[in-house]
Amino acid sequence: MSYTSAENDIAWRHWRCEWSLSPDVAYLNHGSFGPAPKEVQRVRQDWTDRLQVEPFDFYVRQLEAELSHAAECLGEFIGTSADNLAFIDNATFGMNIVASSLDLQPGDEVLTTNHAYGAVLRIWREICRRTGARLVVQRMPEPLNDAQELIDTLFSGVTEKTRLLVVDHISSPTAVIFPIVDICRRARRQDIPVCVDGPHALAVKPLSLDALDCDFYLASAHKWLSAPFGSGFLYAHPRVQQTLRPVVVSWGGSLAGAESRWQDEFHWSGTRDAAASLTIPSAIDFLCRAGILNFRRRSHDLAQYARFRIGDVTGLQPEIPDSPGWYGSMIALPLPPGDEPPLKKGVRDPLQSQLWKQFRIEVPVIHWHGRRFIRVSCHLYTSAREIDRLAEALRELL
Ligand SMILES: Cc1ncc(COP(=O)(O)O)c(C=O)c1O
Repeated sequence: MSYTSAENDIAWRHWRCEWSLSPDVAYLNHGSFGPAPKEVQRVRQDWTDRLQVEPFDFYVRQLEAELSHAAECLGEFIGTSADNLAFIDNATFGMNIVASSLDLQPGDEVLTTNHAYGAVLRIWREICRRTGARLVVQRMPEPLNDAQELIDTLFSGVTEKTRLLVVDHISSPTAVIFPIVDICRRARRQDIPVCVDGPHALAVKPLSLDALDCDFYLASAHKWLSAPFGSGFLYAHPRVQQTLRPVVVSWGGSLAGAESRWQDEFHWSGTRDAAASLTIPSAIDFLCRAGILNFRRRSHDLAQYARFRIGDVTGLQPEIPDSPGWYGSMIALPLPPGDEPPLKKGVRDPLQSQLWKQFRIEVPVIHWHGRRFIRVSCHLYTSAREIDRLAEALRELL
């Protein structure tokens, strides 16, 4: 097994200059908020400038065609047609659209896993509370080293009342890649609609949404694709497009007088700047110029290096195999338990604050099922030296 090393950084260090990240900060938290390269930021600004030149012309005569072009580029990147994509602000927005469109009845069930993102669990708890439905949170096996066992455990939560399966492509607290191809295939066989929560997978994993055949897939392009903040999208399979209802009701039709499409409800939710969505093609171009496979290989090598270096400090190993099938550009590494009681919402673990204040390292410490993890995200601008810096800081603090 070959771990990356600081010497390897030399070949990659020019990438750092493409971002405007603070030079003194080791930014290992792309998974929470992924900064856009300078070039992508400039393109975003160009779109806003273009809007300012003649807002009526831009909104009414140009915007729909420009959004269609952006959807074609995105569709090509993720293996689907532009007709199946709507631009929204972020993945949270998309999950809310799916939740409020589902028409749940008392006694219905929505099935998800205990790896789901906290805000996603909250969306579904809230909609179930309002409708009298039930959220079933299936606990996944521990350790996770057998995809079939994971799938069987998930589907053992299915009943005749299951109306939707909500599953991560890559989970947030644990950074695990879920076997969504097999999950979607089995769900189709059992006639259960699937909504895939995909913000951490866009760019990190190859996507072919038409082949995946899920019902909904939503993501935030402002994570790993490094598009500007506010560039989410919702994919809806043609069989479910007409079931979708807006969470923000506006005109619900084309401003340019074009034939109505399901996306109209979402593309115009009142006057707003669409620059972030329109910049998605430039973010794709940027990553493709770097080489998408280079990005995946390098960022996974760095995540693997973090696994090795931090595991050496803590003596603890993650509960997933050391394989690109189980983790990609981000890895959640177990930490010894802290002294503090479970944290209140919005309160950071003291270790996270110390890493930031004393060492200028931005990395999340995550509490999940009574355990603590440090979640290390690696992108083209990340260096092995920064991971060494984190390992040394942890040795001092733990
Ligand atoms: C798995 C997962 N789903 C959804 C979201 C929400 O993304 P956003 O804040 O861009 O809406 C996140 C954010 O980190 C996430 O990790």
